[in-house]
Amino acid sequence: MRQCAVTAALEFHSISKRFGAHAALDCLSLAVERGEILGFLGPNGAGKTTTIHLALGFLKPGAGGGTILGKPFGDTATRSRIGFLPDTPSFFAGSASSAVALAGRLNNMQSWLLRERSRELLARLNLTSAGKDARRFSRGMQQRLGIAQALVNDPELLILDEPTSALDPPGVLEVRELLRAARDEGKSIFFSSHQLSEVEQICDRIAFLDRGRLLRHGPLAPFLEDSGKMEIVIDGLSSDAEALAAYRPYRTSLSGNSMLFIVPARIQRELIEKAWAAGGTLKSVTPLRRTLEELFIKWTESEH
Ligand SMILES: Nc1ncnc2c1ncn2[C@@H]1O[C@H](COP(=O)(O)OP(=O)(O)O)[C@@H](O)[C@H]1O
Ligand SMILES: [Mg+2]
Repeated sequence: MRQCAVTAALEFHSISKRFGAHAALDCLSLAVERGEILGFLGPNGAGKTTTIHLALGFLKPGAGGGTILGKPFGDTATRSRIGFLPDTPSFFAGSASSAVALAGRLNNMQSWLLRERSRELLARLNLTSAGKDARRFSRGMQQRLGIAQALVNDPELLILDEPTSALDPPGVLEVRELLRAARDEGKSIFFSSHQLSEVEQICDRIAFLDRGRLLRHGPLAPFLEDSGKMEIVIDGLSSDAEALAAYRPYRTSLSGNSMLFIVPARIQRELIEKAWAAGGTLKSVTPLRRTLEELFIKWTESEH
C-alpha cells in the first residue's frame, strides 16, 4: 500500500518580503498543522496581512517560499479548498445571499449545495433579514458576511484576517463557535487577531510576530501557565495578624476574614506554614495564570 505523508496545511519557509526599503517580513518560518487553530498575533504593522497575502499568492516573497495544502503558494487549483476572509471585506451591490452565492460559484459549487450552505450560514450569522445592498451594511455585518463567504465552500483550510475586529459580543461568540465547530470537523484554521481574549479561548497554538519577525510560537497553554506566581487565600486570621505582617506587600485583597496573597512560588511554603501556625485556614493555592495581553506587552517591550 502506498503511504502519503500528511503535509501541514500551511507552511512558510524562511520567507522575507520587502516593500521598497522597508522589511515587512524577515525570514519567517511557520507551519499550521492539519486540524488546528493557529492564532497569529502581533501589533499593527507587524506583517500579519502581508504573511496572509503571500500564502494566498497575492504577493510574491522576496526570498523563501511555502506550501498551502501541499501545493506552492498561489496554486489556483487549491483555491476552492480554501476559505479566506480579508481584513476589509468589500462587496458588489446586492443582497447577502447574492454575495455568498458569488463566492460559491467562484468555487464551482453545485447550485443545490450552494443554496443549502448559504441558507444555513446566513441564518447562523444572523444575516437572513439584512438589507438589499451589502455595500451599505455596517462593518460588523460585512465582517459576518465575509465569514459566510469564506465558509460556504466547506474549505479544508480557513485563513481569516482579523475575523472579529468589528463584531459585537454576540457576534464574537457566534464566530468563536463557528471556528470551534470547523476545527472539530477537521478543518485547519489560521487567523490573525488583536482580540487576545478571543485567541486565548480558541487557539491550539499561537505565533507572535513583531516588526516582521516571529518572536514566539508554540502551544498556547504553557505560555499562559508559567507565571511563577501563586495565588493563596487564607481564612480565619485578622487583617493585622502579626504572623503575616512580613507578607503584607503581597496581600492584594481582603474580604471578611479572607486574605488573598500573590506570592512568588518559592515563598508559598513559608507563608502557608506561618498562617497555619497562627491558626489560619488555607482556603486555596492556585498557580497564577498569565493573560495573553500581559505576554503580548512583555514580548513587544523586550524587543524594543
Ligand atoms: N503594499 C504595500 N506597500 C508598502 N508597504 C506595505 C504594503 N503592505 C504592507 N506594507 C507595510 O508592511 C508592514 C506590515 O504591514 P501588514 O502586513 O499590513 O501588517 P499587519 O497586518 O500586521 O498590521 C507595515 O509597515 C505596512 O505599512
Ligand atoms: Mg493586518
